[in-house]
Amino acid sequence: MLLPVFLGGLAAFPVVLGTTSACSSALKAAVATDAAAFAARTYDYIIIGGGTAGLTLAARLSADKSVTVGIIEAGIYHQGDPVILTPELSLPGGGGNATYDWLFTTVPEPGANGRSIAQPRGKMVGGSSGLNLMAWGRGSREEYDAWKTLSGSSDWSWSALQPYFARSQTVDQQYQTNPFPGASSSQEAASFTHGGSGPIQASYNVLYPDIIPAYVQTWNNLGISTNGDADAGTTVGIFNSRSSVDRQKGVRSYAANSYFEQSCARPNLFIVAGAQATKISFKKSNSGKHTAQSVAFTVASRSYTASTRKEVILSAGAVQTLLELSGIGNAALLKSLGITPLVNLTGVGENLQEHVFSIAEFQLNSGHLTFDELNNNATFSAQQQALYAFNHTGWLAANDAAQTFTPFQLTCNVTVQAALLAAFDNYTSSHKLTPLQSAQYKLQRQWITTGNVPMAESILIGRGAIAPQAGDSYMTMLMGTLHPMARGSVHINSTVGTAAPIITGNYLDNDYDVQTILQALKFVQKLGQTAPISSDIATIIQPAVTDDDDLIDWIRNTLSPGDHLLGTAAMATQALGGVVDPTLTVYGTTNLRVVDASIIPFTVGAHIQSTVYAIAEKAADLIQGKSCT
Ligand SMILES: Cc1cc2nc3c(=O)[nH]c(=O)nc-3n(C[C@H](O)[C@H](O)[C@H](O)COP(=O)(O)OP(=O)(O)OC[C@H]3O[C@@H](n4cnc5c(N)ncnc54)[C@H](O)[C@@H]3O)c2cc1C
Ligand SMILES: *[C@@H]1O[C@H](CO)[C@@H](O)[C@H](O)[C@H]1NC(C)=O
Ligand SMILES: *[C@@H]1O[C@H](CO)[C@@H](O)[C@H](O)[C@H]1NC(C)=O
Ligand SMILES: *[C@@H]1O[C@H](CO)[C@@H](O)[C@H](O)[C@H]1NC(C)=O
Ligand SMILES: *[C@@H]1O[C@H](CO)[C@@H](O)[C@H](O)[C@H]1NC(C)=O
Ligand SMILES: *[C@@H]1O[C@H](CO)[C@@H](O)[C@H](O)[C@H]1NC(C)=O
Ligand SMILES: *[C@@H]1O[C@H](CO)[C@@H](O)[C@H](O)[C@H]1NC(C)=O
Ligand SMILES: *[C@@H]1O[C@H](CO)[C@@H](O)[C@H](O)[C@H]1NC(C)=O
Repeated sequence: MLLPVFLGGLAAFPVVLGTTSACSSALKAAVATDAAAFAARTYDYIIIGGGTAGLTLAARLSADKSVTVGIIEAGIYHQGDPVILTPELSLPGGGGNATYDWLFTTVPEPGANGRSIAQPRGKMVGGSSGLNLMAWGRGSREEYDAWKTLSGSSDWSWSALQPYFARSQTVDQQYQTNPFPGASSSQEAASFTHGGSGPIQASYNVLYPDIIPAYVQTWNNLGISTNGDADAGTTVGIFNSRSSVDRQKGVRSYAANSYFEQSCARPNLFIVAGAQATKISFKKSNSGKHTAQSVAFTVASRSYTASTRKEVILSAGAVQTLLELSGIGNAALLKSLGITPLVNLTGVGENLQEHVFSIAEFQLNSGHLTFDELNNNATFSAQQQALYAFNHTGWLAANDAAQTFTPFQLTCNVTVQAALLAAFDNYTSSHKLTPLQSAQYKLQRQWITTGNVPMAESILIGRGAIAPQAGDSYMTMLMGTLHPMARGSVHINSTVGTAAPIITGNYLDNDYDVQTILQALKFVQKLGQTAPISSDIATIIQPAVTDDDDLIDWIRNTLSPGDHLLGTAAMATQALGGVVDPTLTVYGTTNLRVVDASIIPFTVGAHIQSTVYAIAEKAADLIQGKSCT
């Protein structure tokens, strides 16, 4: 996530990372070039968006030598760029910089006291997997089983997705440092068994801020147990998240340097980078459905068109508006802009969900070793940079990994739990709900009352984030929603294919979401006063208030995005207003699929990248007519 305040991080420094692949020169040529040559070919599959899902799919589909795959990606490949690759630099990494980020923002959000909220999205080969904070984990079983309910297909469930989660990752078996007290050794051992031999390298850190054991112990003392295997179907508890970091190389493992580098030398895989797709064109088939034939794209203000024999796959991410630009969406909206509607699908661009966070910052007593040391101690920083340049270890290869996922039962007394449920029920009874919302909230209400699916997340950032003072060290906490009730939207506001989408988050537009964060924030204030972490803490710096109304104002003023936008092309039945069916095909079309975070019909309480990779792995099987056993 993007912190609401400036983070005094290290400036990027040049290191040479020895990752020149066999295909890098071919790739550079493909990138620099030749949009005309790309457009001249007819592909079996055109993938729009070479991001997290798009590159995964491209690698799997192009394994079949008999087909051709063409990728159209708006960004370029930042191969070997330390801003992307160095784990410690990922906060903020390429976020907020036009070289890497689309720099989208929401409309002014009333729930955030009128602020427009930045919504970073990766614009590069690798997409948001090159921009994210590398937390690597799965949600809870019930959250994926919800997809079965909403899509009406048993193809999508926790158990159906397991082989695809495994296929995308390799869990590092060597670096098993886990300084989190309280995990049972059997859970810990089991946590190493979820991987396959997939392209994404998932690993624990080797180094941690020295407060971690006391911090974890404090959560335990407050009744929140350590979860030694949060990928096994329940995320409740405090756990040491793995990161998508290749521990051998000490670099971010993301779609570009894994899936893409492993496939880009294939003669049947093509990419045009720096190319923005602006429209998909269809012909109407005898069935009355629309068949995608070609994709128009723009490179440096020149327009081109590439054609497909089989399919077009939209992997442009959850804030894309290409469906609407291509005539698929709410007919009334399309007509108002002069676009002839081909398919009247009112769910397109709706159902936007995002985890949102607030922040608290504690100053530590002197003598603690946190990431702040890189800013505070020039000798230490120089040593760490030299070490990283030497063998890619040390503090620059580390990042934050302590996450706590809580249902209300673990953080609130019964009176407050009842008030939260009342706020939830008040929302559902006082709003006109879409059929999809009704189905979602029905599931969510069960999760709230049983407490088996967490509703809030607290993340430790082992450094100062709000105006850190030289010489001091900090513990920053981010508290957010895992199942917000707010539903936003992403729509076009013009027919210009390269115009930015209008993103309306509606963040904190309801009391349930506000109270969810408020209770998490109050719990973290209590945590800071509880032993043993209390003896490491000098003072809570922010928020400096304790009254509920003041805290709510703090939450609105500091609201920041969790960067898990999803749901805008929901996989749900047509009765529920879905956009894609369980084969991920857009309703009303024969050969246009959406494969990315936008198909997730209902948010999962997790950092969602591994879920997106699993979706793309599964989509590859669906497209190739295989099933995974
Ligand atoms: C700052 C940040 C931090 C995050 N932190 C975490 C984390 O720690 N852990 C975690 O699990 N998840 C995290 N996430 C979320 C996760 O990375 C994303 O949900 C996931 O990568 C989305 O994958 P996608 O394939 O849907 O979209 P993307 O990976 O964003 O891919 C979309 C691609 O399509 C391209 N594109 C878009 N429009 C067009 C067009 N018209 N023509 C051509 N190309 C186009 C884009 O340039 C991009 O490359 C974070 C995200 C961000 C942005
Ligand atoms: C953005 O990134 C580029 C490339 O890494 C860098 O040269 C530039 O200084 C960055 N801009 C800002 C404002 O950080
Ligand atoms: C589009 O679909 C919506 C919802 O089903 C319906 O209310 C509307 O009348 C339709 N519009 C057109 C032009 O068919
Ligand atoms: C700075 O870092 C160096 C190298 O790790 C260490 O020896 C020294 O004690 C540190 N200085 C302070 C003031 O902490
Ligand atoms: C990296 O180099 C340091 C300093 O020489 C050494 O202590 C460490 O063991 C090395 N790590 C690895 C994984 O090679
Ligand atoms: C429950 O918690 C709230 C908020 O912390 C507090 O005001 C209230 O007194 C508590 N109620 C009971 C019965 O403990
Ligand atoms: C219930 O929701 C309505 C509409 O959002 C709101 O105006 C009202 O204040 C809420 N009531 C309570 C008791 O929260
Ligand atoms: C949408 O376009 C209209 C007309 O150009 C403009 O007035 C309006 O401000 C735009 N809306 C947003 C949210 O940008």
